[in-house]
Amino acid sequence: MILLALFTSLLMSCSQKNAPNEDHQMKVFIDDLMGKMTLEEKLGQLNLPSSGDITTGETSSSDIAQKIKEGQVGGLFNIKTAEKIRAVQKVAVEQSRLKIPLIFGMDVIHGYQTAFPIPLGMSCSWDMGLIEKSARIAAQEASADGICWTFSPMVDISRDPRWGRMSEGSGEDPYLGSQIAQAMVKGYQGDDLRKNNTILSCVKHFALYGAIEAGRDYNTVDMGRIRMYNEYFPPYKAAVDAGAGSVMTSFNEIDGIPATANRWLLTDILRKAWGFSGLVVTDYTAILEMTDHGLGNLKEVSALALAAGTDMDMVADGFLTTLKESLDEGKVTQQEIDQACRRILEAKYKLGLFEDPYRYCDENRAKTEIFTPENRQVARGIAAQTFVLLKNDNQTLPLQEKGTIALIGPLADNKENMTGTWSVAADFSKSVSLLEGLRNAVGTQAQVLYAKGTNVVSNPKLDARISIFGKPTQWDKRSQQEMIAEAVAVARKSDVVVAAVGESAEMSGESSSRSDINIPENQKELLEALLATGKPVVIVLFTGRPLTISWEKANVPAILNVWFAGTEAGNAIADVLLGKVNPSGKLSATFPQNIGQIPLYYNHKNTGRPLAEGKWFQKFRSNYLDVSNDPLFPFGFGLSYTTFDYKNLKLSGLSLTADSKFTVSVELTNSGNYDGAEVVQLYLRDLVGSVTRPVKELKGFQKIFLKKGETRIVEFTLTEKDLRFYNENLQLVSEPGDFKVFVGTSSDNTLEAGFVLK
Ligand code: NOJ
Repeated sequence: MILLALFTSLLMSCSQKNAPNEDHQMKVFIDDLMGKMTLEEKLGQLNLPSSGDITTGETSSSDIAQKIKEGQVGGLFNIKTAEKIRAVQKVAVEQSRLKIPLIFGMDVIHGYQTAFPIPLGMSCSWDMGLIEKSARIAAQEASADGICWTFSPMVDISRDPRWGRMSEGSGEDPYLGSQIAQAMVKGYQGDDLRKNNTILSCVKHFALYGAIEAGRDYNTVDMGRIRMYNEYFPPYKAAVDAGAGSVMTSFNEIDGIPATANRWLLTDILRKAWGFSGLVVTDYTAILEMTDHGLGNLKEVSALALAAGTDMDMVADGFLTTLKESLDEGKVTQQEIDQACRRILEAKYKLGLFEDPYRYCDENRAKTEIFTPENRQVARGIAAQTFVLLKNDNQTLPLQEKGTIALIGPLADNKENMTGTWSVAADFSKSVSLLEGLRNAVGTQAQVLYAKGTNVVSNPKLDARISIFGKPTQWDKRSQQEMIAEAVAVARKSDVVVAAVGESAEMSGESSSRSDINIPENQKELLEALLATGKPVVIVLFTGRPLTISWEKANVPAILNVWFAGTEAGNAIADVLLGKVNPSGKLSATFPQNIGQIPLYYNHKNTGRPLAEGKWFQKFRSNYLDVSNDPLFPFGFGLSYTTFDYKNLKLSGLSLTADSKFTVSVELTNSGNYDGAEVVQLYLRDLVGSVTRPVKELKGFQKIFLKKGETRIVEFTLTEKDLRFYNENLQLVSEPGDFKVFVGTSSDNTLEAGFVLK
C-alpha cells in the first residue's frame, strides 16, 4: 500500500491568504484594537442579528440601532441597498465607542437582482467558467448594493430529493460538487477581497446537512466516517482549499452532537486538519436550537458552541447575553472569546472595512452595476446551459417557428416563480415568464395561445404554504374541469402543445420537504387531457429537485427540465425550445423511478449480492420485488438535439505508477444535424480495496462543443492522486491493483477499459 498523505496533513488554502507582511500588519492592527476592547465589546463582535427584513426562523434581537451604538453588534444581515447600509454603518463608525465597522451579509445564493438559475440547475451546466462568472456577477451586484458577505456556496451533497434544499446545492456527486464549490468561491472572492466588487463567501452548511434522515428538513444525520470523508466532506474541503473566508455550521447533529457545538468537526477537522483560518458563523438561531436538541439551556449551549470553535452567533443572542457569566464561572476562557473576536475582526480587515467602512456603499455603483442589460444577457445565456433534455421522441423539439403553439400550464405565465427559491434580492416583476419569452421569440412567425389549464396544486391549504416570499402561485378559482376544458380547446386549435408544469418555486428550498415528489395529480390530469387531443406534447418541467416522473416519461414525447432558471427564464427557455440554443445540460442528481428507491445514486457500493447486470429481479439479490434498481434518469444524463458518438477509448498504457501520468482518450463525433456541446464524463472503479469502493466515481469531465459532423479526440490525464480515497484509518491513500475506467455520455452509458496501479 502506498501511504501518500495523512489526512492530518495541512492543505492550506491559498487564494485569500494575506502575504506574510500583510498578515503581520493585520495582527498588529487587531492586537492594538483588541487591547482597547472591553469584554462586552468583544462579545458584541460575536453577535450577528438579522435586520428583520427577511426571516427564516424565530428572531430574538430587537432595537438594533441602540445595540450597535453600544458595541453589541458585529454584523448585520438581511439588509440591502447602499443607502440603508451606509446609514447603519454610520451608526457603528460614528456612534459606537471604538468605531468598529459592521460586516453586512446576505443570502446571495444564485445571483443578486439578476437572478441566475437555482444552484441545482447551475450544476447541470457542468461549466465551471459559467458558474464562476455567475458568482462574479452576483458579487458585483451585491457589493454595489452595500453587501460584502454572502452565505454561499451551499455545497451539501444530497441523495434525497424529498429534501427541498437539494435545489440549493449541486446534487449528489462529491467530485462535481467540489469543482463547483471552488468555482463559486473564486467568483465571489476574486483575487483580492479588498476590492469593492468582491465579497466574502461562506461555505455551508458544515456539515452533512444533505444527509438528513427521510429528507425531512432539519432532521438527524447519522453517518460513518469513511462515507463522511469520501463522499460528503470533499466539497466543503474544496471550498476551504479555494480560500473561502467563512464557514456556516449546519443545523443537524453529527454523531450525536449538533454541528454548532461539535468540536471534532469545527476544530479538529476544519481548523487543524484542513487549515481553515477564517470565521465560523452559525446558521440562523442554531445556538438556541441546541436547547431543543436537548443539550442544555441557552447559557450552556452558547458555551459549548464557543468551545467547539464557533465564532459568530447568528440571531440567537446566546453569545452576547451569556458568555460573560460563563467566563466568570470558568465555563469558557478569555482566550476562546478573544480568538473568536479576532477572527471576525480579521474578516473585516481582509474586506478592507477598517480602511473604508463605506467601501461597498457606492450609490453610483448601485445605479449602474445592478440588473444591467449585460448581466441579464449573461444570465439568459447561462440559463439555457442548465436545461436538461430528458426525452425527445420523434424530434418533437426544437419547435418550428410557425403555425400555432399552445402554451398551457400553471407555470406558463407566472413571473414570480421563475427565479426559484432563495432569490431575496430579485424583483419578480422584472422576471421574464415563459409566455412572454415565447411570444417575444416567435414574433409574428407563429401564434402562441395560452391557457392556465390547472392550478399548481389542487389543495388550497397546500397552495397557501407554497405561495410565500412574494411568489404566489396565482390560485385560479375556476373548477378543474373548466380550466382543463379551456386548455383542451386551445390545444385543439394548435399544432403543438407546450405544457409548463411541475413545482412552484417554493415547493422546494428550505423547509419544503415533500413525501411525494410526483408532479401534482391535478397537473397530471391536465397532461392526460392534453395528450388525448392527439397533438404532440412537450413538457417544460419546472422543479427544484429530481421528480418521480415515470408516468410522464412513458407517455409524453418530449420533456425539457428547466429547473428555475432565474430572471431571464422565459427568454432562455424559448431559446432552447426553438433551437436557437441546443440543450447540453446533464443531471447532477439521479431521478428515481419512485420514492421507495430513495436514496438512489450512481456511485453506490456493489454489496455482496449485487443484481446481475440487465436483470430486473433475482431472488436473494439486492433488489425490489416491485421496481427495478434502475434510475428513471441517471446521474450525468441529458440529451441534445444532435447525437454524439463515442469510439476508440484508448489508454496511454496498461499501468500507472505513483509518479507517472496516464492519458485516457476517446473519439467524439457530433453525428447529428445540429451543432452542440457534450459533457464527456470519466469515471473510475477501484476493483479491489481495503475497504469497499463505489461501483463508479466521477473523476473528470469536459464540456466539448462540436459542429455537426465534427470529430475530436478528447483527452483526460489521470495521476495516482485521482485514485486516492480515505481508508479504514481515515488516511488518504491509493492502493495498487486493478482499476476500470469508463468514458461516456452519462454515468450509465460509457465505454470501458482496464488498467493497473503499480
Ligand atoms: C437559514 C439557512 O439554513 C441558511 O442557509 C441561511 O444562510 C440562513 N438562514 C440565513 O438566512
